[in-house]
Amino acid sequence: MVTGASSGIGAAVAGALSAGGAHVALAARREDALLEVQSGLESREGKGSIVAPTDVTDRDQVRSLVSRAEEELGPVEILVNCAGVMYYTLMKNRREQEWERTVEVNCKGALNCVGAVLPGMLERGQGHIVTISSDAGRKIFPGLAVYSASKSFVEALSQGLRLETAGKGVKVTTIQPGNVATDLISMSGDEEALEEYGQPGGARVLDPEDVAASVVHALAQPEHVAVNEILIEPRDEPV
Ligand SMILES: NC(=O)c1ccc[n+]([C@@H]2O[C@H](COP(=O)([O-])OP(=O)(O)OC[C@H]3O[C@@H](n4cnc5c(N)ncnc54)[C@H](OP(=O)(O)O)[C@@H]3O)[C@@H](O)[C@H]2O)c1
Repeated sequence: MVTGASSGIGAAVAGALSAGGAHVALAARREDALLEVQSGLESREGKGSIVAPTDVTDRDQVRSLVSRAEEELGPVEILVNCAGVMYYTLMKNRREQEWERTVEVNCKGALNCVGAVLPGMLERGQGHIVTISSDAGRKIFPGLAVYSASKSFVEALSQGLRLETAGKGVKVTTIQPGNVATDLISMSGDEEALEEYGQPGGARVLDPEDVAASVVHALAQPEHVAVNEILIEPRDEPV
């Protein structure tokens, strides 16, 4: 089950998982974009994927997504939390709706998904929860205070979950990318913050597929091996 599968990193993760033989439930809000991603997945015999329009901030919708995925594809063995928003803002500009949206999607959305799949994983004694965090979950960036806080939240959540599920067959991984070539930055409207902190540095940034390869690396380990965190950066933009 991949959230944020309608574009960017989530679409690339869905593609990589499908190519690796997984059945994939593609979730995000935009059905047309999900269908387009689905049409690019490698075809396979039987039902290889479903498109499930879902707003991760709505707990009931997330529960329905899991029920549908389980009915049509089988137990959710892997959750990739990729749905996210990012707004460059200066705290002094008090863009409170953007602060709230960041918490709703990045924090509560991830919680809703974890809450919906964890019971089944524990019951089966098997599962892997991967969250696309950010290098901003390890280092706080100016202009991204609330975003960095939201990614620190998912890092702390994942650490706690990992400790509590040790010995129960569940793996928990965070992927911490630096700049990736996606549409994410385009939602920022605080020109002052963008001007001061959001300008491209000129380095070759990551492709979504680079991040997807990290997800696959974490998933492909032997049963006794856990990849807890992967920090992946453009070579010329070290943190
Ligand atoms: N790009 C980077 O430089 C970078 C770096 C580090 C980490 N990340 C993280 O990577 C993740 C994916 O971002 P991206 O770069 O691939 O950007 P993106 O192309 O804008 O993807 C964001 C995805 O999140 C989905 N989404 C947003 N709100 C949602 C909601 N309420 N419910 C369900 N889905 C929702 C969007 O789909 P819909 O609009 O269809 O709902 C979209 O599929 C994010 O968590 C981001 O923080 C990105």
